[in-house]
Amino acid sequence: MSEPVLFFISKFNELLAEKPHPQRYYRPRPYRNAAVRFNASRIEDFDKRRAVVEETGLNVFDFPARMIPGCDLLTDSGTTTMTIEQWSQLVLGDESYGSNEGYFDLKKQIPLTFGPAWAQHDRDRMNFFIFHQGRAAEHSFFGVLAGELRRKIPENHRDIPNTLPPVLKARIESRLEGMRQPYFIIPSNSHFDTTEGNIEDSRMIPLNLPAPEHLANNESFPFRGNMDLAALEAVLEKLNSRVPLVYMTITNNTGGGQPVSMENIRCVAELARKHNVPFFFDACRFAENAWFIQKKERGYENKSIAQIVHEMFDHVDGFHISFKKDGLVNIGGGLVLKDGGRFLREYPDFGMKMVDRQILVEGHPTYGGLAGRDLKALVEGLRVVVTQDYLDNRIGQVERFGDKLLSYGIPLVRPVGGHAVYIDLDRFFEGTRTKDDDFKGTAFTALMLIAGHRMIELGLYAFGKFKDGNEIPPNPRVNFIRASVPRLTYEDQDLYSVAEAARVLAEHRDRIPAVEVVYGRELFLRHFKSRFRFKN
Ligand code: F0G
Repeated sequence: MSEPVLFFISKFNELLAEKPHPQRYYRPRPYRNAAVRFNASRIEDFDKRRAVVEETGLNVFDFPARMIPGCDLLTDSGTTTMTIEQWSQLVLGDESYGSNEGYFDLKKQIPLTFGPAWAQHDRDRMNFFIFHQGRAAEHSFFGVLAGELRRKIPENHRDIPNTLPPVLKARIESRLEGMRQPYFIIPSNSHFDTTEGNIEDSRMIPLNLPAPEHLANNESFPFRGNMDLAALEAVLEKLNSRVPLVYMTITNNTGGGQPVSMENIRCVAELARKHNVPFFFDACRFAENAWFIQKKERGYENKSIAQIVHEMFDHVDGFHISFKKDGLVNIGGGLVLKDGGRFLREYPDFGMKMVDRQILVEGHPTYGGLAGRDLKALVEGLRVVVTQDYLDNRIGQVERFGDKLLSYGIPLVRPVGGHAVYIDLDRFFEGTRTKDDDFKGTAFTALMLIAGHRMIELGLYAFGKFKDGNEIPPNPRVNFIRASVPRLTYEDQDLYSVAEAARVLAEHRDRIPAVEVVYGRELFLRHFKSRFRFKN
């Protein structure tokens, strides 16, 4: 090849090596649009949106999606834009009642995505259960588990040893109030709220043990999703017979979408093994977690995402998952138990009991609440989600969005996680006259809706409680706005438009009004149901 051509190729390579910069990209998206949806409303319709925001009581869930011309960042769950390969699978869906084609395809795909140890078996050794979404899998799983545990340990034994660190002891005791069953504790780096709710619904105690680096807001620590190993060890040592499972949420949604390192996974697995307790993942964003391990953990830079995923899943005995995230589909969930793993060795009949649950609430185990076509689209999603180009672009986009907000001085939980940016409201409103019960996070999301974009408050209102006339903030305190980025849906330009609106709010943060709760302050899960109005 001639010298000048080689020269240009080296220059093109230099372009690729540059950090992406708005309006100066060399690397194209790894896909292109195959169909688009025109928005039903226009960005300049501020007054129309204002009227509807007020009519719907500033509740972001009640605002009609059709009226959002900008980015709908309410969640990354079930909001993925599917590929045309996935759409083609929908057309090929087999809608037979039992043992449809998609079921067999999915059985083949699970060990390809998660590793050979997750091969699926039939009938008498059922270890793979389909549900219509993640929380349905959680509900059945923890329900069956609670029944098994009560059979094993029927006595109402409630003593908590004094040797447990006092903070942990107090947290467990506060949860025991009013509980009549023998108690069981399920520790995790942090449970998602439905997981936590389902554990409590089965009369067990969810115990979050986030890493000290996360609690100290260490912005240079790359794996803020880790579990606190010392606290886990204390719980396993002092309360071993009370811990039926150890859980790990990857990535840690509640903690800011933060990843967990392979080292932490390995150490938790070792502790669990030492104490003979099964170890599970809440695996919703497993591929995103693997990407962070590849980029940020020594020794993994030359491994493929598939290799990293397999290694992560080698450490656990089972997992539940909402396929609405890293399944790249709009609906679906599952529970998978490792054949020969510690959990199935301890509860050999568990599979059959899960099947009974599934038949009662979802449908035949070979479709589990999904249409045959959904299963086919999921198989294709599980194949694409672990590809390098997809993940580089996906998490790169969330990072670019975060960088843009930071460049406008908007404080975020850092480093930015895999699926969302979390705006830190305490720091955002620092220096303004703001009281906790002004609920300015709610005012922020309402103003963003008027601007044309949707986000969610996950802070003093979502997690706080109103008891006996007093507002009780969440403990440990969390006060965030979450802007989740749907997969394969928006271009950077769209997200930059969100950043512009947020910049206006930041520049005039002292003028953001307080809100008043007009309905639902005392309700359970109140942020889904409450209504508010702006105070003058
Ligand atoms: N676990 C985690 C970590 C989640 O983020 C979610 C859902 C679930 C379980 C439940 O799955 O929605 O399919 O029933 N998270 C969504 C969110 C709702 O917006 O973060 P699901």
